[in-house]
Amino acid sequence: KQDDDQLIIDAGQKQFGATTCSSCGMVYSLDNPEDNFQHNQFHQRFLESIKYVGWKKERVVAEFWDGKIILVMPGDPKYAIKKADDVRHVADSELGFQQLTLSRPTQAKTYLFINSERMVVGCLVAEPIRRAYRVLEQPEHHKDMTKDDFMERHRAWCCSTVPEQALCGISRIWVFSLARRQGIATRMLDTVRSTFVYGSHLTKQEIAFSDPTPDGKQFATKFSNT
Ligand code: ACO
Repeated sequence: KQDDDQLIIDAGQKQFGATTCSSCGMVYSLDNPEDNFQHNQFHQRFLESIKYVGWKKERVVAEFWDGKIILVMPGDPKYAIKKADDVRHVADSELGFQQLTLSRPTQAKTYLFINSERMVVGCLVAEPIRRAYRVLEQPEHHKDMTKDDFMERHRAWCCSTVPEQALCGISRIWVFSLARRQGIATRMLDTVRSTFVYGSHLTKQEIAFSDPTPDGKQFATKFSNT
């Protein structure tokens, strides 16, 4: 088949062009064997990173009908730290974070949501902080002007210059793409509230999100009721 705009050969294959894998998130070309090979490799590594075999000593901080949340702390056995690092790298690569190590590894607590198929489908990294800067509400007339949903989600937002007291900073929160909108992020945050500071329950105001993505902002807005 030939026409002026044709860039790929139509040899009867079922699908053309770039596609995004709904589980590992890789964008690749279905009709390119090299791309398919790269995708297979990446996909296997991704599944390996989120696979959870179970540990003799695990710190279970919450249990649900569809899974449990375990907490990994600095100083835990190597295998636990490695799993937390592996899952964090998966989240970081999806978030486009370049920084591969934590800014304060000795203080960070990692919460992992394990589903009933023994996969880590949620990861949250929380760090102690002292202050945070509130995201300012957008003026009403702007809201009317931006009818386009995409623009609304991706526009820049402004923060107050006045610091407010906060105790816990969420440096990353990530849920496996196929497990979203099942309350996993909400349950991880509720667990942080009750376990981050021993013996006390944090209010929603004492938790701050670092530089959220559009998804993260929508979620944080709902979670904080702001
Ligand atoms: N768009 C609009 N509203 C949303 C979205 C979204 N993408 N995600 C969550 N919400 C709101 C909804 O009101 C939702 O309630 P509903 O499902 O009853 O309507 C409510 O938040 C609770 O959502 P959860 O199910 O608890 O959230 P989920 O488990 O899906 O995880 C998360 C949300 C972590 C943002 C997930 O979409 C994700 O991993 N995205 C990619 C990574 C990312 O952007 N992480 C945030 C980075 S910012 C940071 O790390 C500080």
